[in-house]
Amino acid sequence: MMTSAFPRILGLESSCDETAAAVVDGGRTILSHRLAGQEAAHRPFGGVVPEIAARAHVEALIPLVEAALGDAGLTLAQIDAIAATAGPGLIGGVMVGLVTGKALAHAAGKPLIAVNHLEGHALSPRLADPDLAFPYLLLLVSGGHCQLLLVEGVGRYRRLATTIDDAAGEAFDKTAKLLGLGFPGGPAVEAAARSGDPKAVRLPRPLVGSAEPHFSFAGLKSAVLRARDAGIHRPEDIAASFQQAVVDCLLDRTRRALGRCPGVTALVVAGGVAANGAVRAALERLAREHDLRFTAPPLWLCTDNAAMIAWAGAERHGAGLFDPLDVPARARWPLDPDAEKARGAGVKA
Ligand code: KG4
Ligand code: ZN
Repeated sequence: MMTSAFPRILGLESSCDETAAAVVDGGRTILSHRLAGQEAAHRPFGGVVPEIAARAHVEALIPLVEAALGDAGLTLAQIDAIAATAGPGLIGGVMVGLVTGKALAHAAGKPLIAVNHLEGHALSPRLADPDLAFPYLLLLVSGGHCQLLLVEGVGRYRRLATTIDDAAGEAFDKTAKLLGLGFPGGPAVEAAARSGDPKAVRLPRPLVGSAEPHFSFAGLKSAVLRARDAGIHRPEDIAASFQQAVVDCLLDRTRRALGRCPGVTALVVAGGVAANGAVRAALERLAREHDLRFTAPPLWLCTDNAAMIAWAGAERHGAGLFDPLDVPARARWPLDPDAEKARGAGVKA
């Protein structure tokens, strides 16, 4: 049997609309990664339909696991642990991935590692950047979350800020829908914004300059609706102005947090919205201003994938953190359970 100095982790992801399997080792080698998107199935509805997503995960996951193991040239017996997303996310999909992970772990006699999807995003920059050390300030911006986290170590996250209404990715998706730009919304808005004028439409910057640490995007979305209904702006101009407003909000809130985290050595951005070029460029400038290392994972590692779950599994494996086979699937699962509730943020983790 092939031996390796590093533990090899099989990762499974199924918490939203991507089904994915990957093998990553503790030395940061991505041995394989496979992904099946479901965009075509959800496009007619303009958003992710949970029931359709769960059924698609059931069909896609096992073939992806077999393909990922095949690409890595490994059998299940040569894997050291199975890491599966156990939440937060659409519960039907989370259950498909977690139960599959449990079955594989049980059948092969391997340890199970239940990974918080947000931890996958939070640690993914360390897969991409071997020199990224703890502690770092993380801006986690995805379709379901918009948070600033102080990442102190594996399993040690302090939430400094969250959104009091919509997540940043959600705002991109809703704006794309309002402007008829298509689905998924983020890349569509970014593409339209390239031929638009970011100063053409006056839009609000909710909570910018506020003493509280949090984010808010709901007012921005309403302003986009009004701008569209005014009928005088080009969609590209609204898209560019909206993207600029989001960048300004993210930047202001992140700058505020940096001022309160004197010990951090790096500014890191992760999650689907981190794939946005304007967001990355603005944060990179902010990091430079503060003399901080800047890390953003490559684009494919920003949006949902299984390599980040396998890597979080490798980090947890290194810390001796394993889970029993009766670990529950969780629709909500905050990374920092001690974080105070933000005003208005009743439903978001
Ligand atoms: O992390 P992710 O793949 O899934 C969640 O865990 O939510 O993030 C998906 C979100 C979607 O809202 C999508 O529109 C947004 O990330 N996104 C982008 C871009 N690519 C993906 N937003 C802005 N610009 C992009 N290029
Ligand atoms: Zn995600």
